[in-house]
Amino acid sequence: MAETKQVAVIPGDGIGPEVVAVGERVLTAIAAARGYPIELTRYDFGAERYLRDATTFPEDAQRAIREEHDAVLLGALGDPRVPGLEHARAILFGLRFGLDLYCNVRPVVCLHDRLMPLRDRTAADCDFVVFRENTEGIYVGMGGQFKRGTPDEIAISEDVNTRKGVERIIGAAFEHAKSTGRRSVHMADKSNAMPHAHELWYRCFFEVAEEYPGIEAKHVYVDALCYYMVQDPSQLEVVVTCNLFGDIVTDLGAALQGGLGMAASGNVHPGRVSMFEPVHGSAPPLAGKDVANPLATVLTVGMLLSHLGWPDEEKLLTDLVRRAIDERKCTPDVGGELGTRAVGDWLLSHL
Ligand code: NAD
Ligand code: IPM
Ligand code: MN
Repeated sequence: MAETKQVAVIPGDGIGPEVVAVGERVLTAIAAARGYPIELTRYDFGAERYLRDATTFPEDAQRAIREEHDAVLLGALGDPRVPGLEHARAILFGLRFGLDLYCNVRPVVCLHDRLMPLRDRTAADCDFVVFRENTEGIYVGMGGQFKRGTPDEIAISEDVNTRKGVERIIGAAFEHAKSTGRRSVHMADKSNAMPHAHELWYRCFFEVAEEYPGIEAKHVYVDALCYYMVQDPSQLEVVVTCNLFGDIVTDLGAALQGGLGMAASGNVHPGRVSMFEPVHGSAPPLAGKDVANPLATVLTVGMLLSHLGWPDEEKLLTDLVRRAIDERKCTPDVGGELGTRAVGDWLLSHL
């Protein structure tokens, strides 16, 4: 019998618990049907807990996740009752930075022609993946405010780019292209306006590219990338970019997939405990109404299963999600009439 895989589950805030409940059901059902030894441990970190006892992401839980788990499934964090979002950063960045999950892998795949928003394009025209740097850039929280609240106030957020950090995410993008038979990698930066930080990206990109002679290395400015994503996404296979740009272009990418309810992601350090979450946030206006689309989370569970060593199950879940869309067994945002839980029921009865 294989060793039991330990999965930590953090439902979080807003619609997080509703979509994660469906994700957990799917994960548990697959594990039971296939005899995969998977054990789930739930953690109640989020706004509710923070408001109750000021807990964000305690040391002992961080240690347990690092040392005793194989993967984390996270819903979303963000609650209007915590306007500074300090708990969300502590948990989300605690995982991304704390576990050194430097690859934020965000597939931009349109699964069904009905979901394609671009005129004269089909789902087949949108099939690429974004490798977003996930441990540095403007997200490191360095900087400060001076003379706050006065007419002379100054606000600074530092953009940190290290040779090691830039090289390893670009390397991961090329490795992915190589292992999946893709022929090009686009690197998106803003080196025309940010000659210090992004000249490093530009230089590293072509240095790393030399190790992958069969793969075309294409540099693109991030503003033009946004243009190409809408004008003709079929030219994109693998995109690598910095933390902030990766965040922004993957919400744009979600629109090409049928909306944020369809966009999955993994926060990965190859070979280490990694974290999986939908691209969307906690969508407070939808919370508690049984209307949130759980399919992004189901696709995310697929990525998690693949990470645990069961890539066939990712394919199975992707096919099932495509079928749910095809048969309109889905929520209103993607053209169906079912509630979140009913989508889960349908998935379970068709697994
Ligand atoms: P959001 O992703 O929560 O919502 C943006 C839009 O997408 C809204 O119209 C929402 O209704 C829709 N949407 C999102 N997920 C959906 C789903 N599953 N089904 C149907 N529609 C869906 O982004 P926001 O409104 O900018 O942020 C809300 C909160 O979430 C904020 O606190 C933000 O900081 C946080 N957030 C957290 C994460 C995360 O935990 N990884 C990611 C993004 C935003
Ligand atoms: C995401 C989110 C987060 C990010 C926020 C909540 C800090 O937008 O995961 O895409 O910017 O990384
Ligand atoms: Mn985002």
